[in-house]
Parts: sequence; structure tokens; C-alpha cells
Amino acid sequence: FQDIHEDVDRILFTEEDLHNRICEMGRQITADHEGESLLVISVLRGAAIFMADLVREIELPLEMDYMAISSYGNGVKSSGIVRILKDLTSSVEGRHVLIAEDILDSGLTLSYLIRNLQARNPASIEVATLLRKKTLQQAKIDCRYVGFECPDEFIVGYGLDYAERYRNLPYIGVLKKSVYEK
Ligand code: PRP
Ligand code: MN
Ligand code: MG
Repeated sequence: FQDIHEDVDRILFTEEDLHNRICEMGRQITADHEGESLLVISVLRGAAIFMADLVREIELPLEMDYMAISSYGNGVKSSGIVRILKDLTSSVEGRHVLIAEDILDSGLTLSYLIRNLQARNPASIEVATLLRKKTLQQAKIDCRYVGFECPDEFIVGYGLDYAERYRNLPYIGVLKKSVYEK
């Protein structure tokens, strides 16, 4: 039993669900990349928590780096405009890049990011996304690692926010409509 936040309608993935799935993802990534080293890039701010947990399940030499991109601002819909708020510190050239994302929704963020990183001549680019939302209008993104499919609702927790709140919930849940339909 987990205490549920009063603004959360229902829990989709418990702390234990997340931990178990991320362990599996880490093992798979480790097996697929034997003998390689990785540059793991997380997309701030949402993916920071997922990345922190994922890298601890990957048994390979790796470097962690961060890029901040935002398209949602404080709304529940993507603005359609992706902005780089903070660029990487490391060079991508010749590296095996693994992008760690919290959620693939419209696909705008990832398609922008992949295009942007591809232009910096990496050896390879792969995506590990914790969640992939089941929506009708999603850019075709090649995600090698997907944690869970999730319904087309506004979800929060484990890094995912609404107006910068709820990122610190240990589980992932559906936000009550009454919270944003005011
Ligand atoms: C959210 C989420 C993903 C992106 C997914 O980030 O963390 O990065 O949206 O949506 P998309 O597939 O429709 O582009 P957001 O822009 O809210 O910034 P944040 O990570 O700082 O919350
Ligand atoms: Mn994000
Ligand atoms: Mg956000």
C-alpha cells in the first residue's frame, strides 16, 4: 500500500513496478552493449530521476551528461516550440549515445533532440524511454528501450510534472482533471 497524493486520481506504476522494470532495462542495455562505453544523456528536467536510477542498473563504463529542452512550459499541452535551455558539456562525436527520456508523448522533444545530436556525428544514438504514451498523433521515433506504454492522460510523478509540481512523487499516476481544469 502506498499513500496516494490528494491530486492524483490513480496510480499507474508503483515504486516497485518502476524499480523492477528499470532493472530489466538496465540488464538489457548492458547485454546489448558489451565491450562498449556509453554517453548517457538525460533530458532535463523530467528525465533526471529516471536516468539516475537507470545508470545504476547498467554495468558498463559510462558518462552522464545533461541537456535541458522544454516544450511544455507550465501547460498540459506541448507548445510545439522546442527550446534548448542548457547544452551538453561533453562532446558527442564518435560516442555511443543513449538518450534517457521520461516520456514520449507527441515525440516533438525526442525528434528535435535526435536530429540535433545526429548533427554532432555520434557513433550511434539510441533512446531509452521510461514511458511511451498511446496517442494517435505521435512522431515516429525509434525507441530501442521502452519501459511501459501508458494511457493518453496527464500523468505526473517520478520526474514528471504539472507546472513544476509532483516530480518528487515516488510513483507515476494520473493527475486529477480538477487540478488543471480550473
Ligand atoms: C516533457 C517530458 C518529455 C516531453 C515529452 O518535458 O519530460 O521531455 O515533455 O513530450 P513530447 O513527446 O510531446 O515532446 P517538458 O517539456 O514538460 O519539460 P520538463 O522535462 O522540464 O518537464
Ligand atoms: Mn522533459
Ligand atoms: Mg514538464
